[in-house]
Amino acid sequence: MTVALHLDSFPSPLRALVIGASGGIGAAFVRALRLASSDNHVEELHRHSIPPVDFSEETSIERAAEQLAARGPFHLIINATGVLHGNDFMPEKKLSDLQYDHLKTVFEINTFGPALVMRHFAPLLDSQRGVMVMLSAKVGSIEDNRLGGWYSYRASKAALNMLVKTAAIELKRSQKNAVLLALHPGTVQTGLSQPFRGGSVARNADEAVIDMLNVINQKMPEQSGHFYTYGDEQLPW
Ligand SMILES: NC(=O)c1ccc[n+]([C@@H]2O[C@H](COP(=O)([O-])OP(=O)(O)OC[C@H]3O[C@@H](n4cnc5c(N)ncnc54)[C@H](OP(=O)(O)O)[C@@H]3O)[C@@H](O)[C@H]2O)c1
Repeated sequence: MTVALHLDSFPSPLRALVIGASGGIGAAFVRALRLASSDNHVEELHRHSIPPVDFSEETSIERAAEQLAARGPFHLIINATGVLHGNDFMPEKKLSDLQYDHLKTVFEINTFGPALVMRHFAPLLDSQRGVMVMLSAKVGSIEDNRLGGWYSYRASKAALNMLVKTAAIELKRSQKNAVLLALHPGTVQTGLSQPFRGGSVARNADEAVIDMLNVINQKMPEQSGHFYTYGDEQLPW
């Protein structure tokens, strides 16, 4: 069944920015926002864009924000970066798998980079209607953790969630119309989930982003600083 996309809480044409636009979910956000209206203005940033955003280069985040400022302000900024596994590491199953290098890489990409994205890109939000979405993961919910494992990924997303909550409190004072959300996309068919999908629960990225955009469309400043799923359930921290 095709679900209709609603973006009616945003001005038209919409100015949007997707960071991590080279990823499975990021690219699907770009496609959906462009398909919604050819008048929408959708900027893409990733490690190989001009300017690049590479979380192993702290200054690239500030430089990209400086360059993108002239193309804003943005009604919607989505951070779709993230890592779960790499060429030389897989998520830890047990304490004895923990390693500094793995932990540092995962925190750099899932927590530190997104933190600096909030720092440098939140000022680019439109003062009347501006939503910033940080893609998180349900496994980052401390309360929801029943299975254990995936230490660094879970912890990096739990820390990201705390940064979202903390920044949302500050933004309520300094940018009163801003909305900052942590959003769980569900299990989506991308490179990140590929080794772990097993059965059939993973959804196509284009379907997942329609659901997420419909959730985002409904979020107003009163909902800022919360953690939602693509199905619009509020998750416990
Ligand atoms: N897929 C799922 O089932 C699922 C489930 C729950 C949560 N999520 C979350 O959804 C988000 C998007 O994931 P995805 O499934 O679309 O993964 P993906 O296809 O692997 O995309 C990951 C994105 O992160 C970027 N990235 C990786 N390392 C980076 C770095 N050092 N600096 C800057 N960007 C970097 C990648 O850039 P390159 O293209 O240059 O590598 C790519 O744009 C992530 O936050 C993930 O945790 C996904």
